[in-house]
Amino acid sequence: MATTTDLGKPVGVTLDRYITLAQDAFTIATGELSQLLRDIGLAAKILNREITRSGLLDLEGAFGAQNVQGEAQQKLDVVANIRFKRALTNGGQVCALISEEEQEVITINPDANYLVAMDPLDGSSNIDVNVSIGTIFSIYRRKSEKGSQVTEEDVLQPGRDQVAAGYVLYGSSTMLVYTTGRGVNGFTYGPTIGEFFLSHHNIKCTPDGKIYSINDGYWNEMSEELRAFIQKCREDGCTARYIGSLVADVHRNLLKGGIYIYPPLPKYPDGKLRLMYEANALAMIVEQTGGKASDGRQRILDIPVRDFHQRTPLFIGSANLVDECLQMIS
Ligand code: AHG
Ligand code: MN
Ligand code: MN
Repeated sequence: MATTTDLGKPVGVTLDRYITLAQDAFTIATGELSQLLRDIGLAAKILNREITRSGLLDLEGAFGAQNVQGEAQQKLDVVANIRFKRALTNGGQVCALISEEEQEVITINPDANYLVAMDPLDGSSNIDVNVSIGTIFSIYRRKSEKGSQVTEEDVLQPGRDQVAAGYVLYGSSTMLVYTTGRGVNGFTYGPTIGEFFLSHHNIKCTPDGKIYSINDGYWNEMSEELRAFIQKCREDGCTARYIGSLVADVHRNLLKGGIYIYPPLPKYPDGKLRLMYEANALAMIVEQTGGKASDGRQRILDIPVRDFHQRTPLFIGSANLVDECLQMIS
């Protein structure tokens, strides 16, 4: 029977087909997680349609409100949140949703087994300038009994308890990349057919990358140790790449090898990125490919969650580069 790792690189395998093949490898699987992954795939297709037409549909620009982080919401942030919420509600497999765009936990179906944490649209500052943006998602299994109220223990699970995680990158092509803890696979969207097809099978991140990604505008606010690491990257012949959309920056470094850094800064003492719906999913993906993810002190996936909107510094990417960076800054 085919499994996620022995499929080889088949041609013309859709996301739905792949999810079914992977599920068939587990006799105890009920199909609920598979359905949830399909629901996310469907929402990604719908959002992709909005994104590609945003300049024509008056979907660019600010929405006129702030999210829980006090950041100005863009119209597409709001649209993305609605699209995913609707798909997860219709799909019926999610008991609760944590979203960057929602102050509170949204309860959906008390009879469902899974919780989702998501950044519906990542890289908002790039929407209006036609630069890659993304969606990030984490999936957890609830700890409490099905049918009961979702508890704090369900919501505040550490990243290591994710049962699946992934992202969608709306770039020069649209890709969905996900893991259920048995390797990472990428699917490219074929817009004329309306399906995601397996295009990047069993992605591996090289341990020694040559790209460093950090917002250089914060140079004066970085620690001396971090500046020394950046300086070393330059001397070692690394190249700098920074898009400003976390999904796109991490995806590039995953495929090419490199390190992405968002350090603690005076204006963001705990870092800027959100643990539950940005860092954790990407950390699971990157670890599954052989890479590493840390907050500078500990593994991202082991950070205890106190608040589902909490932030974290992030050092993520090729294993040896991340190790080298952590040694220099600690
Ligand atoms: P979001 O659009 O979901 O708020 O996320 C923006 C994040 C992340 O995508 C990106 O890497 C980072 O903010 C960029 O921050 P700086 O502009 O401070 O570099
Ligand atoms: Mn984001
Ligand atoms: Mn966002």
